Formats: sequence, structure tokens, C-alpha cells
Amino acid sequence: MAVKHYDTSRAHLTASVDRTLRCLGTDHLDLLLLHRPDPLLDPDDLAGTFADLRASGRVRSFGLSNFRPAQADLLRARLNLPLVAHQVEASLWHPDPVLDGTLDHARLAGLTPMAWSPLGGGRPAPPILGAALERLGRSLGLTPAQVALAWLARHPARMLPVLGTGRIERI
Ligand SMILES: NC(=O)c1ccc[n+]([C@@H]2O[C@H](COP(=O)([O-])OP(=O)(O)OC[C@H]3O[C@@H](n4cnc5c(N)ncnc54)[C@H](OP(=O)(O)O)[C@@H]3O)[C@@H](O)[C@H]2O)c1
Repeated sequence: MAVKHYDTSRAHLTASVDRTLRCLGTDHLDLLLLHRPDPLLDPDDLAGTFADLRASGRVRSFGLSNFRPAQADLLRARLNLPLVAHQVEASLWHPDPVLDGTLDHARLAGLTPMAWSPLGGGRPAPPILGAALERLGRSLGLTPAQVALAWLARHPARMLPVLGTGRIERI
């Protein structure tokens, strides 16, 4: 039986970077994020893998996604290069990072926060939120989606929204 798990081994990360470079038709990635913590993640192995990916010019900078502050701090203490970004779910559909310490930790650690699913992944807003977005949007001449993104942009952590739409007119 196959068990789905995250894999931060040298072999997997190196093969994944090489495959991504081939698919994108480029010779370097500006930023590589570890998608989620891997229970068997070995910070010292990872330090060597990241250092080699950077030394070979294939990856220019590194970050994390969906890590808890202590998990991120372990890597920050053991990697021989800076981590620059942390991508977490953040939106009016999922505002937890604003109050649970996630954004505070990112700011203390110098990690640029990136917000995935900034529009709730396209899920309908719960009724109270949906009505508020409509009402505010009407009074400001904005769409509900623009109001939701303005809420993210207002936060002093300066989160970068990672938009999921593939439609240029929406962007
Ligand atoms: N790190 C992680 O664990 C993680 C997890 C999930 C996602 N992500 C990343 O985050 C990205 C964004 O996630 P997401 O797709 O859930 O983001 P999202 O921007 O919250 O949702 C995109 C969806 O919302 C729909 N949508 C409805 N109204 C929209 C409007 N007015 N403007 C724009 N879009 C609207 C889009 O439809 P249309 O396509 O029809 O415009 C699309 O289906 C992903 O592509 C992925 O790279 C990361």
C-alpha cells in the first residue's frame, strides 16, 4: 500500500528541481519553497542539499510553506543560508495566521509572508462574510474579491497574495 508523504531527501528534492527546470524551460528557480514539513526531515541533510542547489545556480533563494514557528526555527538555525519566505493559508476565509502568531513569527524571522488561497480557493464565502464583502464593495466601487485582497494588503506584515486564477482579466 502506498502512503502519501512529503519527502525532503536530497534525491527527491534534486530530481524535483531538475524536472521543474525542464518543464519551465529555464536554468534556475528564483525561489524554492518546501511545501510542507516532512516528519523525517533532517535539517543537516537539507542544509547540504540547499547549499548544492544554490552553488550549482539552479536555485537562487529558499523558503517554506505550512511550517509551524518551531519547525521553521529549527531550519533557520541549521541551514547555512537565509530562508526568505513563508507561504501559509491566509484570507478572510481563513484568518487564523493574523492572530495565532504565524505572521508575527514570519516578521520576526525576516520571512516574507505569502498567502495561499487568498480568495478562499474560490469557495463561496460564508453568508455573513459574503454580505459584508458585497456591501463594502458597493460602497467603494470594488468587487468582493478586490475587498478581500485589500484586507490582506492592509495587514502590516505585507503578505503577498498567491492568486489561483488562470484568467488574466481577473488578475
Ligand atoms: N502552499 C500550499 O500548501 C498551497 C495550498 C494551496 C494552494 N497553493 C498555491 O496557492 C495558489 C492559489 O490557491 P487557490 O487557487 O486556492 O487561490 P484563490 O485565488 O483563493 O482561488 C482561485 C479560485 O478562485 C476562483 N475565483 C472566483 N472568483 C474570483 C475572482 N473574482 N478573482 C479571482 N479568482 C476567483 C478562481 O476561478 P477562475 O480560475 O475561474 O478565475 C479559482 O478557481 C495555487 O495556485 C497554489 O500555487 C499553495
